[in-house]
Amino acid sequence: MSAHLPAGRKVRYGGDYNPEQWPREVWEADHAAFDLASIDTVTLNVFSWATLQPDEDTYDFALLDAIVERAVAAGRDVVLATSTGALPPWLAHRHPEVERTDFQGRRHVYGQRHNACPSSPVYRRLSAELAGRLAERYAGTPGLVAWHVGNEYGGFDGGCWCDLCAAGFREWLRARYGTLERLNDAWNAAFWSHTFSDWEQVVPPNMLSEHWRGPDHTAFQGITLDYRRFMSDAMLANYRDEKERIRAHDATTPVTTNFMGMFRPIDYHRWADDLDFASWDNYPPGQREHARMALAHDVVRGLKDGAPFWVMEQTPTITASRDVNPVKRPGVLRLWSWQAVAHGADAVLYFQMRQSKGACEKYHGAVLDHAGRTDTRAFREVAALGAELDALGDAVLGARTPARVALLFDWDSWWAAEMTDGFNRHARYVDTVLAYYRALWQAGAQVDVVPVTVDLSRYDVVLAPMLHVLKGDVADRLEGVVARGGSVLASYWSGRADVDANAFLMDAPGPLGRLFGLRVEETDSAEPGVTNPVTLKDGAGDDAVAAASLVFEVLVPQDAEVVGTYGAEFYAGTPAVTRHRPGGHDGGEDGGEAWYVATALDDVGVAWVVRRVLGRHGLVGPYADTDDVELAVREGADGARTAFVLNHRSDAVDVAAHASGTDLLTGRAVVAGETLHLEPTDVVVLREDPPR
Ligand code: GLA
Ligand code: ZN
Repeated sequence: MSAHLPAGRKVRYGGDYNPEQWPREVWEADHAAFDLASIDTVTLNVFSWATLQPDEDTYDFALLDAIVERAVAAGRDVVLATSTGALPPWLAHRHPEVERTDFQGRRHVYGQRHNACPSSPVYRRLSAELAGRLAERYAGTPGLVAWHVGNEYGGFDGGCWCDLCAAGFREWLRARYGTLERLNDAWNAAFWSHTFSDWEQVVPPNMLSEHWRGPDHTAFQGITLDYRRFMSDAMLANYRDEKERIRAHDATTPVTTNFMGMFRPIDYHRWADDLDFASWDNYPPGQREHARMALAHDVVRGLKDGAPFWVMEQTPTITASRDVNPVKRPGVLRLWSWQAVAHGADAVLYFQMRQSKGACEKYHGAVLDHAGRTDTRAFREVAALGAELDALGDAVLGARTPARVALLFDWDSWWAAEMTDGFNRHARYVDTVLAYYRALWQAGAQVDVVPVTVDLSRYDVVLAPMLHVLKGDVADRLEGVVARGGSVLASYWSGRADVDANAFLMDAPGPLGRLFGLRVEETDSAEPGVTNPVTLKDGAGDDAVAAASLVFEVLVPQDAEVVGTYGAEFYAGTPAVTRHRPGGHDGGEDGGEAWYVATALDDVGVAWVVRRVLGRHGLVGPYADTDDVELAVREGADGARTAFVLNHRSDAVDVAAHASGTDLLTGRAVVAGETLHLEPTDVVVLREDPPR
């Protein structure tokens, strides 16, 4: 799955620019300001369908011509969007079926954006036609570096539940199952007498059918999972419609769309092959989300097998869509931008270059405010970062993360674990993944976040938090990691369901039981806040007590060794954390280890386990014991290593440099072991000296 990124000489810098919203005099001021901030790339035409095509038979590119010409004249590179992320009013008025039917079963009339039914033949025809006409007109434009198809696919409920989608779903099911017998079997339709005798009887799962309290409450996980897969594929078909028409006129310019990181409704792994390169929009939900952002960057990097990606959007200051929208504190924009580069971003772009005049994003932050001022704090920080990225040049372009650790991320598991009755609704997939990722991140391990289909032979350590659904030969491949001396760690609720979300007719954790040397006999749950102390003993005297919560599996070890035990409840004294050496306890140096964590440990407990797993492979990093100091590394094809040391703390900190090299931001020589002083939000970009 090779990636094809736009060529470039430096980390690209710029963002969404929508000058169709203001008079031309302002364009001049805009471009003059962009020069001051080292802006080299603008994304144009994200939401202009109604202007480009005022009615079904008329296309008018005059305004876009002028916008593109002005940007090119200013020396800007251009990402050209296809404008199909929001419907024009005439289209909805003339063809009401282009509008979505929501999860409640209500056909929408007109409004907002990300509003097209992906199965509508009219939408598919006209969106592809528009993309084709744009490509015909603008292919070969100097400075055109990428095509940006649609926008944030999946917005608005994450899908459509209309009759056209119902028909598309039935077709999709026929292709997947062939016969109704296989479909009935996959959905375990005999339960509650749902056996289907005609394809026409299948209707989309929503509030009018299998769901009763929203998307997570379904009577049949099978149909709900299949609908999510279908919806992912239906929107992917929309993207493909447009990409195909672009390719008819432009054979080479890379094509992408902007993802939303960890976005549940769409399985981005199903899309990855169709993107030339991956990109995403980074809007963290809070102000102290360093590990979550790092995880999301790594999820996106994992889409294209570790190739660099783009941050297509981030805000320079505030977002507008939350109830409370705090500004980014001084230094935070710089820190988060460097974090993106550290995790593999070869472009750092904004939404947006200038503030909208009206509508719901008029107060959303931008590089330029309504007055177009360049003497604001935000603009100064943007310009300073632009100068740094200029100075960095091509030093890390194309460089990859040298990861020995893989963390499996799986949309099917996400859906199946959260959209099921039983157990505990408070135990969430991303929370669980993040708990393990955070421990890896704090330890300074370089991590690839990958789909379960990836080749695991390149990793020493593989983590499978809440790997609820086991697909294909993943259990065998995890056994393979341990067989060659690696370590595998899984958490509670792993190995519970097959690809159809049906239980395995065997002990939990299903086909993983052999690897972990245990079975799960019962699964207890508790309300948030109720804890059970787990004592962790490593035999070396470094014991700990962690608080476990939410889910408590009662284990029966077969030949796993007990590492942690519950301290309360009728299962007090029984194992909560185990380690299995399938080669035997005296298996020697080469034997690998399979760790199982049967409960939601707190951060202390997760870190205790993760440090031991990493430690065995020498993968605990040099800054592991300084909280919230991050180490991320990129390695070029020539082996040149660039280490990013990022201070996410709100206080200054001194650490001992882990290597000698040159700080690319200051030009200063650094000697291994010397004190690196990092102010709050500070960043060191250390080009390491080659090993002697
Ligand atoms: C998304 C969209 C943009 C804009 C921003 C605002 O990422 O793609 O058009 O609405 O959110 O944060
Ligand atoms: Zn639809």
